[in-house]
Amino acid sequence: MTRPDTARQIHLASRPDGWPEQENFRFTEVPLPEPEDGEVLVRNHFMSVDPYMRGRMNDVKSYVPPFRLDEPLEGGAVGEVVASRSDRHKIGDMVLHNAGWRDWTVLPGKAARVVDTAAAPASAYLGALGLTGLTAYAGLTKVAGFREGDVVFVSGAAGAVGSLVGQIAKALGASRVIGSAGSAEKVAKLLDYGFDAAFNYHDGPVHRQLRDAAPDGIDVYFDNVGGDHLEAAIGAMNRGGRIALCGAISQYNETEPSPAPRNLALAIGKELTLRGFIVRSYNQYAAEFAELMGRWLQEGAVRFEETVVTGLDNAPQAFIDLMRGANTGKMLVDLR
Ligand SMILES: NC(=O)c1ccc[n+]([C@@H]2O[C@H](COP(=O)([O-])OP(=O)(O)OC[C@H]3O[C@@H](n4cnc5c(N)ncnc54)[C@H](OP(=O)(O)O)[C@@H]3O)[C@@H](O)[C@H]2O)c1
Repeated sequence: MTRPDTARQIHLASRPDGWPEQENFRFTEVPLPEPEDGEVLVRNHFMSVDPYMRGRMNDVKSYVPPFRLDEPLEGGAVGEVVASRSDRHKIGDMVLHNAGWRDWTVLPGKAARVVDTAAAPASAYLGALGLTGLTAYAGLTKVAGFREGDVVFVSGAAGAVGSLVGQIAKALGASRVIGSAGSAEKVAKLLDYGFDAAFNYHDGPVHRQLRDAAPDGIDVYFDNVGGDHLEAAIGAMNRGGRIALCGAISQYNETEPSPAPRNLALAIGKELTLRGFIVRSYNQYAAEFAELMGRWLQEGAVRFEETVVTGLDNAPQAFIDLMRGANTGKMLVDLR
């Protein structure tokens, strides 16, 4: 592999106000240095676009610092080691790291984790076998305290995290799994994955569709969406029900706060638990998760899908389209 003299990167040109647009991103070309002692030169193969990146584009204090203007964006990526001055890496290793949004990069060896491409394709480490999968597993089992026999509802169910949540719940013995998603094709996909019921949230009020899909109520709600989905779930929860607050994508591009949920007081009489979480606080379960997920994938109990957009040039659009539901499963950009 011949290395270029320059690398292409995508910078944050301006902070989005509401929905992100192409002009919020800027392409730049920078010199590609030689790796120094302890560093590796990496040619990226795939990068991830994720909803949480929208929050980092705002200049607000959060659990991760905001992206800085006129600096390269960051995010999960997998790439091939092309030159190495790290004793932990050899040429040809595939590594997982956080320097996405660029085609080539030089990284400290300690920031590049070698992944096993004999076990799964490299891209899977950005999705089902990576933080996406851990989010689904830890959110369901550790945050919501899933128990065998629970009725589980998951929103954003055809997305990267949601599609895994539903399948993991089935694999662990849920009595019924219900998913919501934004199109008829996605609903069909959920039924194919083994969900017991699924609905398109554009077809009518969520609370009504959820009541029809879960006539006996729900015990666990895995929330990827917030707003009216959360309100509907609170309404449908059984006594002692548990809600894992994973994301609120319906609100990420809104400029006004969401009025829903308006029924939070129901949590008192129903003795509900609503618990937010950030996946990195559950890293201690990564090994347990990797073993289980490896087995489920091998047995076919869990399947995963990727929506792959080609080329760094199309990465900003992939990110924008992700939030409009263009993806089924994990949204990735192929940088090769
Ligand atoms: N807490 C954590 O540590 C953590 C970690 C990872 C992800 N998350 C959160 O988990 C959620 C899912 O993330 P992901 O990476 O798996 O993304 P994803 O679900 O693969 O992609 C986002 C999906 O959101 C749906 N969506 C967009 N606007 C919506 C709306 N107004 N109402 C309902 N659905 C809407 C779209 O599907 P439709 O076609 O169905 O609308 C879209 O495909 C996000 O909220 C994310 O922020 C949290």
